[in-house]
Amino acid sequence: MKRILLTGKNGQVGWELQRTLAPLGEVIALDREKLDLAYADTILAAIRTVNPDIIVNAAAYTAVDQAENETSLAMRVNAEAPGVMAEEARKRGIQLVHYSTDYVFDGTKDSPYGEDDTPAPINAYGRSKLAGEQAIQATGCRHLIFRTSWVYGMHGKNFLRTMLRLAEEREELRIVDDQFGAPTWSRLIAEATALALAPHREPEGLYHLASAGHTSWHGFTEAILGLSRNLRTREPSLTAIPTREYPLPAKRPFNSRLACDRLAQEASIQLPDWRVALGLCLDR
Ligand SMILES: NC(=O)c1ccc[n+]([C@@H]2O[C@H](COP(=O)([O-])OP(=O)(O)OC[C@H]3O[C@@H](n4cnc5c(N)ncnc54)[C@H](OP(=O)(O)O)[C@@H]3O)[C@@H](O)[C@H]2O)c1
Repeated sequence: MKRILLTGKNGQVGWELQRTLAPLGEVIALDREKLDLAYADTILAAIRTVNPDIIVNAAAYTAVDQAENETSLAMRVNAEAPGVMAEEARKRGIQLVHYSTDYVFDGTKDSPYGEDDTPAPINAYGRSKLAGEQAIQATGCRHLIFRTSWVYGMHGKNFLRTMLRLAEEREELRIVDDQFGAPTWSRLIAEATALALAPHREPEGLYHLASAGHTSWHGFTEAILGLSRNLRTREPSLTAIPTREYPLPAKRPFNSRLACDRLAQEASIQLPDWRVALGLCLDR
């Protein structure tokens, strides 16, 4: 039995990973209380105690707007901690699985971003996540980095759950329609991760992992409202607005689309269209 150390067990992806990794070995899942990534010594102590074959790092500082004012904490958790994990993984021959984001790109390209496109983050969170990728790559440890986008699920804080709540509270939803990306269900990220770790598949390096197709936040909301009528008592109106009418502390890329062909070609792993996945998630 392999021993798998999972961080961030209560996050959207971490919560699902506790379930999907279970058939692959013994999963030792830790939350922030047991393993705070802001402290390098606790990371090293956890790795020594658990003595894992694989580390799956689902923990991250994900408060995109707050990161503008907490840059040093975001850097410690998203950049320095993965670097510490990776260096220890290299020394001990451990495989490291890590997650990154579409926010490493500036969003100015007019087609989906591939793994070989040059990152140019436009906010503090994106800069910290890119630094994390680079810290892992620099160690030369055996690693898998999945860049994903617009993560949602029925667990944790996310856009889907916010829209379901606001739909009950508000007469009108005013949602941005000029940022484009692929909403990606946390369950499918966790399932793809387990598949990638299965014997004989084992891709290595950096991969984009997001649902097929793309939409805007407004299009995503339209689909959520359409598929959730039986879960709601009210029907708000939906208005499309440009980003400039919804200012936030952190800038967001207008194009967050990720080309996921590399993972499909090298490991035969491909996520379904975002609408299909949303339907499956809401069926639950
Ligand atoms: N959410 C998105 O839309 C999105 C998009 C692209 C990429 N990603 C990436 O995908 C991965 C998974 O994201 P997610 O959506 O599952 O995030 P999430 O739901 O926000 O979960 C993150 C987890 O990390 C934990 N955490 C935060 N700071 C920590 C620290 N100092 N030490 C230990 N744990 C800490 C949180 O703990 P608490 O529960 O205690 O806060 C939480 O359980 C991350 O690498 C993220 O950057 C996410």
